[in-house]
Amino acid sequence: MKAIVVFESLWGNTAAAARAIAEGIGLEAQAMTTSEAAGEAIAGADLIVAGAPVLGFRLPTEDMRESIRKNPGKAPAPPDLSQPSMRTWLEGLPEGHGCCAAFETRLRMSPGGSTSTILHDLEELGYRPIAKGGRFIVKGKYGPLRDGELEKARHWGEELAGVMAAP
Ligand SMILES: Cc1cc2nc3c(=O)[nH]c(=O)nc-3n(C[C@H](O)[C@H](O)[C@H](O)COP(=O)(O)O)c2cc1C
Repeated sequence: MKAIVVFESLWGNTAAAARAIAEGIGLEAQAMTTSEAAGEAIAGADLIVAGAPVLGFRLPTEDMRESIRKNPGKAPAPPDLSQPSMRTWLEGLPEGHGCCAAFETRLRMSPGGSTSTILHDLEELGYRPIAKGGRFIVKGKYGPLRDGELEKARHWGEELAGVMAAP
């Protein structure tokens, strides 16, 4: 099984969750940035798992990324805006017949989310969702992930692998 876990991540929380999910899926899975997840790297993938933070109650928009670029606020580290956004990545993704899942990192109490948009776009391209959106919770606006969330992400990856292995 070829599985890829692709992520948008400005401060590293979603990247960390993505790596844990890939570990949970198993050896055949690889976590990738949106620029790595292109061409041969994703061709014929049996499972695409896509994740992003929730910023401004939704999947980050270009406007939100631009406003963070201009005013990073009190972030403990500069945001990584060198990779295409998840929205841009989804726009460039070719149609496919594989399975898919989506996850987000976020505060515990907040309206909105990212996974419904990701899943909607993946479904439109022909991918078949195999799970409800995964949610991994951060302690503060910029992270880090709460204790136990990486373990939860690994377990979610194991569950996805289980669904893929089922007859
Ligand atoms: C400008 C800004 C806006 C945010 N908006 C939301 C939000 O609307 N809902 C939420 O649950 N979390 C929100 N967060 C928290 C982020 O989703 C969280 O820190 C996420 O893990 C960041 O992921 P990353 O480190 O992969 O970039 C926001 C954080 C920032 C800095």
